Amino acid sequence: MSFRATVLTLYPEMFPGHLGQSLAGRALERGDAAIEPVNIRDFATDRHRSVDDTPAGGGAGMVLRPDILATAIDAVSPVGDPRPRLLMSPRGRPLTQARVRALAEGPGAVIVCGRFEGVDQRVIDARDLEEVSIGDYVLSGGEPAALILLDAVIRVLPGVMGNAQSGTHESFEDGLLEHPHYTRPQLFEGRAIPEVLTSGNHKAIEDWRAAQSLALTRARRPDLLPGDKPDRTAARQPAK
Ligand code: ADE
Repeated sequence: MSFRATVLTLYPEMFPGHLGQSLAGRALERGDAAIEPVNIRDFATDRHRSVDDTPAGGGAGMVLRPDILATAIDAVSPVGDPRPRLLMSPRGRPLTQARVRALAEGPGAVIVCGRFEGVDQRVIDARDLEEVSIGDYVLSGGEPAALILLDAVIRVLPGVMGNAQSGTHESFEDGLLEHPHYTRPQLFEGRAIPEVLTSGNHKAIEDWRAAQSLALTRARRPDLLPGDKPDRTAARQPAK
């Protein structure tokens, strides 16, 4: 089964972007994944092809109209489409590797890229859009966020990653940050590779890496460790 993403955007030319290259590019060529950009503006009804309007209640910026977006969603994802509908938004639940894995196991996604100041809340509710954030910072639009989500999903699709092992020992897969890596030369600007890594003692190497992972996680991301679980991520959200 392949992963099919339909991306609703005002900038369809941004897709597949960098995903046309390297690992993801080969997956797209092989047909393991497909990315179909669709221009929301194609569903506008007036002669100016407008898709947004001023915010009710006043304020700066423009809001994406619910009727136009609903028509676009219904056209690309009719009733019965099993794919989840995502809305890229800084207000969303933070994207996690667990959510990425779950998406990769499914048939694909319909991804709405937000623009302007936002999207009319009624279409978010009426079409059950799952708001997803890629981090606590604000982009000028959802497109780069959608590309990042798709990059993360495509690389974990079956058969995409070259070495079947790579991916299981990396950051977040075991709930911790990844240990540091080294390769030749043995001495670089006076810095040697940690001795244990050249010892040939596999158990000692494994223990060293586990200790490094834990120390890094403690220093940089204590929120990932048990005992510090603020309700931040999708995995920890209460049921709706
Ligand atoms: N659109 C704007 N900022 C975003 C973010 N941080 N995550 C997802 N979509 C966004």
